[in-house]
Amino acid sequence: MKTIFSGIQPSGTITLGNYIGAMKQFVELQNDYNCYFCIVDQHAITVPQDPAELRKNIRSLAALYLAVGIDPDKATLFIQSEVPAHAQAGWIMQCVSYIGELERMTQFKDKSAGKEAVSASLLTYPPLMAADILLYNTDLVPVGEDQKQHMELTRDLAERFNKKYGEVFTIPEIRIPKVGARIMSLQEPTKKMSKSDPNKKAFITPLDEPKQIEKKIKSAVTDSDGIVKFDVENKPGISNLLSIYSILGNKSVSELEQMYDGKGYGAFKGDLAEVVVNVFKPIQEKYHNLMETSELDDILDRGAEKANQTANLTLKNMEAAMGLGRRK
Ligand code: TYM
Repeated sequence: MKTIFSGIQPSGTITLGNYIGAMKQFVELQNDYNCYFCIVDQHAITVPQDPAELRKNIRSLAALYLAVGIDPDKATLFIQSEVPAHAQAGWIMQCVSYIGELERMTQFKDKSAGKEAVSASLLTYPPLMAADILLYNTDLVPVGEDQKQHMELTRDLAERFNKKYGEVFTIPEIRIPKVGARIMSLQEPTKKMSKSDPNKKAFITPLDEPKQIEKKIKSAVTDSDGIVKFDVENKPGISNLLSIYSILGNKSVSELEQMYDGKGYGAFKGDLAEVVVNVFKPIQEKYHNLMETSELDDILDRGAEKANQTANLTLKNMEAAMGLGRRK
């Protein structure tokens, strides 16, 4: 069985973008791959976090992973900081990274733009992400499009390490969904939907109340011509809503264009809100049940134990290949 690794940051409630671009894929892939799904809390602290809030978000993300359908008997679900090999291997990967290539990462440029001071970890974030992936001899990494550049760097770092120190790492491939790899903001549809958007109307979360979902979709920015047609260049707003509808409603975009031919945006948005609410309703029920049980902690304990076993083996190989410590 081939191995999959992916991670999500516990920095606030996940968005519809995270769900479509990442989590939904995870659920489909867990039957055919040896999967590791991680709550990457060490990545979250590259920007300031309130400790109590972060602790709450970690648990909440774990419950969400399970509520959307991750089966802990099939996939390993764990918290990054509970597997110390990530930080250790992250340091090693920093040592094979060049500052220039890290400064070229668009996410670093975006997150540091206009800030007087940013943490050093914002720059060294990608080598930690590389470590996450490489520790598990990962074959495939399912992510949204925004992670493409980090994935290319991960492959470069792994190849560089192998060339210099011997074949320690499997070179991972990226897996981006054909539709939904980049869900856009509901308020500025040329910008990625992001949980850190200060405008709460720009994103939907799987834990939003039905009324909130309906309101956010109804106030989503479209255009004035009222034609339901997929055209990202000229009609980014409605095209984004069509992608969301297509994925969550299991209908092709052209089928939807036909269904809403001559009906205008009002009817389309009303139906889309219903589709989104119906997808999230069972997830919310499971989520609230899970948050009240100790089952969640048992699953995370088992996940950390299994992840530690695999990660420690690779870390030992990395250290031995580089000549660290006394063991060959
Ligand atoms: P994060 O936490 O920002 O996002 C988690 C996943 O959601 C995807 N995503 C989106 N997909 C479609 N449309 C959007 N608007 C959208 N926004 C986010 C992301 O591409 C991602 O797949 N660096 C990673 C976390 C990470 C990781 C890893 C991922 C750390 N180590 C190892 C994979 C493997 C991040 O910040 O994702």
